Amino acid sequence: MNETNAELYNRSASDWQRTEPILLSDFTARPFVLSWCEPIEGQRVLDLGCGEGYIARQLKKRGAAHVEGIDITPEMIAGAIATEQADPLGIHYQVGDASQLSGLDDQEFDLVIAVFLFNYVDREQMTSIMKKVLRILRREGRFIFSVPHPCFAFLHEEQPPFYFQRNGAGYFSGRDEVFEGRIWRRDGTDVPVRCVHKTLDDYFNSLAAAGFTALPAIRELYPQPEHLEMDPDFFASLEDKPLHLAFNIVS
Ligand SMILES: C[S@@+](CC[C@H](N)C(=O)[O-])C[C@H]1O[C@@H](n2cnc3c(N)ncnc32)[C@H](O)[C@@H]1O
Repeated sequence: MNETNAELYNRSASDWQRTEPILLSDFTARPFVLSWCEPIEGQRVLDLGCGEGYIARQLKKRGAAHVEGIDITPEMIAGAIATEQADPLGIHYQVGDASQLSGLDDQEFDLVIAVFLFNYVDREQMTSIMKKVLRILRREGRFIFSVPHPCFAFLHEEQPPFYFQRNGAGYFSGRDEVFEGRIWRRDGTDVPVRCVHKTLDDYFNSLAAAGFTALPAIRELYPQPEHLEMDPDFFASLEDKPLHLAFNIVS
């Protein structure tokens, strides 16, 4: 990985700035993650890898009592703060590494979310972040995260509107290898994304190694009939393919 994650996102930050769904995953993943965050009224929430605040804003608007966002990329946080200043919701953002959460208190949050964060770190870093999440969640708090489906890179060719380039890497032997990729917006703009490859059981093993003991709920996310009806040209090549995986676990 020559370019760091922060460098990758610093150069593409403006293409992520949005107030309505534009990216493929704004349709195929984020609405589901948001629905899983309910009931959100009165909750104290941490959004890890919050980007420019797309999800953080929606959670605050839906009634969360307190929302904090942390992201490693200065330009993404600058975008989040600019939107907050233009339309204040009371969300706190800071530049930070999800693996360095020492400034946060034990059991400070009711809900921690990480929407497409773990595809930017390897298995060891993921376990380390999950341990920190467990420390800052109150007892019986919730941890909800989404990642690219582990099979997606093996099922879809390198073509719009979403792909990861695995360069011949194997499903098991390719663990922790970096698959560079692109995801498209419906207006035709494509943005760079990255997936540090993990297998399905890596997520379960990391949660267990981090100290989570409950069984997570998981959902495989894929284009729904309403997506195909709304914009068949955009979604059709992904029909019947698993794009993302969402996890929901109680601490
Ligand atoms: C695909 S974007 C998703 C942004 C946001 N969660 C959303 O759903 O719109 C991934 C984000 O993870 C951030 N990121 C990557 N590694 C990180 C780390 N170690 N700590 C915090 N943020 C990180 C990137 O800067 C980027 O903003």
